[in-house]
Amino acid sequence: MNALSISGGKPLYGSARVQGAKNSVLPILAATILSGDPCVIRNCPSILDVEYTLRILRHLGCRAERDKEGNISVEATGMSGIEIPDCLMRKMRSSVIFMGSILSRTGEAVLSRPGGCDLGPRPIDLHLESLRQMGVEIHEEGGNIFCKAAELVGCEIPLRFPSVGATENIMLAAAKAQGHTRIINAAREPEIEDLQAFLNAMGARVSGAGSPIVKIEGVEELHGAEHSVIPDRIAAATLLSSVAAAGGDVLLKDVRTCDISAVLAALSDAGCIIGVEGASSVRIRNSRRPRPMGHIRTAPHPGFPTDAQPVVMAVACIAEGMTVFREIMFEHRYNHVSELIRMGAKVDVTEKTAVVHGVRALTGASVTATDLRSGAALVVAALAAEGASEVSGLEHIDRGYDKLEDTLALIGAEIKRL
Ligand code: UD1
Repeated sequence: MNALSISGGKPLYGSARVQGAKNSVLPILAATILSGDPCVIRNCPSILDVEYTLRILRHLGCRAERDKEGNISVEATGMSGIEIPDCLMRKMRSSVIFMGSILSRTGEAVLSRPGGCDLGPRPIDLHLESLRQMGVEIHEEGGNIFCKAAELVGCEIPLRFPSVGATENIMLAAAKAQGHTRIINAAREPEIEDLQAFLNAMGARVSGAGSPIVKIEGVEELHGAEHSVIPDRIAAATLLSSVAAAGGDVLLKDVRTCDISAVLAALSDAGCIIGVEGASSVRIRNSRRPRPMGHIRTAPHPGFPTDAQPVVMAVACIAEGMTVFREIMFEHRYNHVSELIRMGAKVDVTEKTAVVHGVRALTGASVTATDLRSGAALVVAALAAEGASEVSGLEHIDRGYDKLEDTLALIGAEIKRL
């Protein structure tokens, strides 16, 4: 049996620590191969996507080990591989970020199209176009993408959309490229800043992360470095939404409050009392039925994150009125809706819009996660629901959450893995 058993309707109390960020650690691990020196990455969450990334690193010929404290050591001195097999590419979207780093290290890379959550079409045209502009020859054949560059050359790359993955791939390819690279309309997500910090710790010259223009001055060589990954803003949003939905009083530690402003604003609209305590703690209290949250429109950072939409929707399901979600980032980002409806939610989806009519209470049910954040939304809903629920499909939840059930049990949830 691969499910979480949750007995809902119990408020959550206490304090919890937020795990390291999945979307930071993956590109940072991909960056470790830019140098042959040892690198140590701290605060790495114990999640399946990190496990898959370690497998990729080992497949490429690197030594990659994790200790019990969440530190990962990578030594890429003996890296000989240029190819990632399809079975590893399909495990997660982030596998594509190795394109830039393998090319930078060896001048050649063979990959296939990445897998990851099924959120509708997830093209990689921006990644490929950008690398072509830097002098990479790319052709696709038999499901493989063959990339080759005699020399990576810096240039100005305007992105049609501020893609997180494309921005990261360009940064990795440009760190040791010939000359300067300027990414115009770069993604501004906090994970881009974290990648910049790690690359600069390795001796790169990257600036502007967090703004729409990222500049990279190519350097000859990079060296090993140590780095601690930032806290996971979506894991934080999941825990905050759990308290908003189930009620209670919880102090979250190790959170970058500046990264979750849009989520805090929505939960504050829902009537939660939110106290930001310094730069790295936030206390959330809720003792009443949530209020509706008006219109929530997902957008690139610093807008409302698409990854937080499912968990906040779980809160909206029991609000005292109507909340309208508009999802602009991905086509199939409402995978959780049909399962929330099984729990008694009233949600109407028309293309990109979901209208949530809050009900007085959800009821426990057997539901199935079909992607990572949808799975998290079902857990939040089950914590608030009356009665018992079983959430299956944990292989999705485990891709991004570090023992979610242990964190929630720590703050009083009745939850166990079956
Ligand atoms: C990253 C995050 C993911 C988050 C998303 C948006 C990781 C591992 N994943 O995904 O959790 O939901 O950012 O914040 O960091 N697009 C193109 N062509 C491309 C690339 C993207 O059209 O070549 C479009 C996508 O279809 C989507 C939008 O750009 O509509 C955003 O995608 P992007 O920012 O690239 O998301 P990911 O990097 O895949």
